[in-house]
Amino acid sequence: MRTYVVTGGAGFIGSNYIHYMFKKYGDEIRIINVDKLTYAGNLENLKDVEDRSNYTFVKADICDTEAINKIFEENDVDRVVHFAAESHVDRSIKDPGVFARTNVLGTLTMLAAAKAAWELPDGTFKEEKKFLHVSTDEVYGSLSNPDDYFYETTPYDPHSPYSASKASSDFMVKAFMDTYRFPANITNCSNNYGPYQFPEKLIPLMINNALHGKALPVYGDGKNIRDWLYVEDHCKGIDLVQEKGRLFETYNIGGHNERENIQIVKTIISTLREELSDSDPRKEHITEDLIKYVEDRKGHDRRYAIAPDKIKAEVGWYPETTFEVGIKKTIRWYFDHQEWMEHVTSGDYQKYYEDMYANK
Ligand code: NAD
Ligand code: TYD
Repeated sequence: MRTYVVTGGAGFIGSNYIHYMFKKYGDEIRIINVDKLTYAGNLENLKDVEDRSNYTFVKADICDTEAINKIFEENDVDRVVHFAAESHVDRSIKDPGVFARTNVLGTLTMLAAAKAAWELPDGTFKEEKKFLHVSTDEVYGSLSNPDDYFYETTPYDPHSPYSASKASSDFMVKAFMDTYRFPANITNCSNNYGPYQFPEKLIPLMINNALHGKALPVYGDGKNIRDWLYVEDHCKGIDLVQEKGRLFETYNIGGHNERENIQIVKTIISTLREELSDSDPRKEHITEDLIKYVEDRKGHDRRYAIAPDKIKAEVGWYPETTFEVGIKKTIRWYFDHQEWMEHVTSGDYQKYYEDMYANK
């Protein structure tokens, strides 16, 4: 039975990954979810796995060396899948310090703990131990030529404090691989969407605002392009890379699904209108009149687009969910989980929203 340490498992992608892994492997694996439960972490995301005998939750900060070492001392860990991070660009612009701490120093703590547990006296590593660092396409910067894509060989050129901290963490993983031959992989994925995403990010924020008849704040001219991937396809990619990929390699993950932000917002409006019954009073307000162009994000990257050729060729990954299907599934999920949305938007969220959007 393989034992996984999943960091950040109470967040958006981490919780989807834990669901994906239990669906795929059932009782063949054991998962230890290590999460500090920041504003972005929510154990409600894992309600349906919490009673499994092969699932454990440990509340810990990935910067807490003692707590992290203890997990490796008490368990024979086979896999680390490292999601835990501060993940929101707008927050990083307001408060970069916590991004450097969690994303860079936290990653170093995880690497050092796994290295201490897995290294043999001769400097090689125990067999079949693997660390996967989950990263982002934002480390590559912004594309200006429409025919360009991000390849694994594209030079790093991060612009926001978020992407700079992720780039630094990727380099720390690379340094462990290059210096110690530490058994790891890095994945750089495009923008994810799907269930359990915190409504500070574009898609759930727009769904939530529209359902409440609130303005839909589109930054700048709305023509910035992101490459959207349904979260389950990302989870599948992570697992395939870890089990079938070549160690020490980086794999880009993305499904060639580029959209301008304004297209995304308009699709959300039209899909919500299709999904709501005519008698639903909310339907009347959900029109394109809700769109409000607001001040642009500082240093706003124009376009991200992944070339997934390597992951397709080497491990046979392909995206299963088209955007048309994925966005419908996502909207339905938020409809069916309105209580979840109410819980995550109560308390601090209102203050966050006022601080972030009041002057836009
Ligand atoms: P998220 O913000 O939804 O979740 C982050 C999780 O990490 C939360 O559960 C939080 O409590 C936990 N966490 C934060 N700081 C911690 C700390 N110091 N110690 C322990 N736990 C801590 O993020 P997400 O969108 O699920 O992203 C997960 C990972 O995937 C991140 O590394 C991110 O850079 C990467 N990524 C995200 C996307 C995307 O579109 N969301 C795309 C590519 C890569
Ligand atoms: P986001 O979901 O924050 O992801 P990222 O910045 O990591 O790509 O934003 C996606 C795009 O949507 C990005 O170009 C910024 C834009 N955006 C808005 O126009 N309005 C908003 O309120 C938010 C949160 C994002």
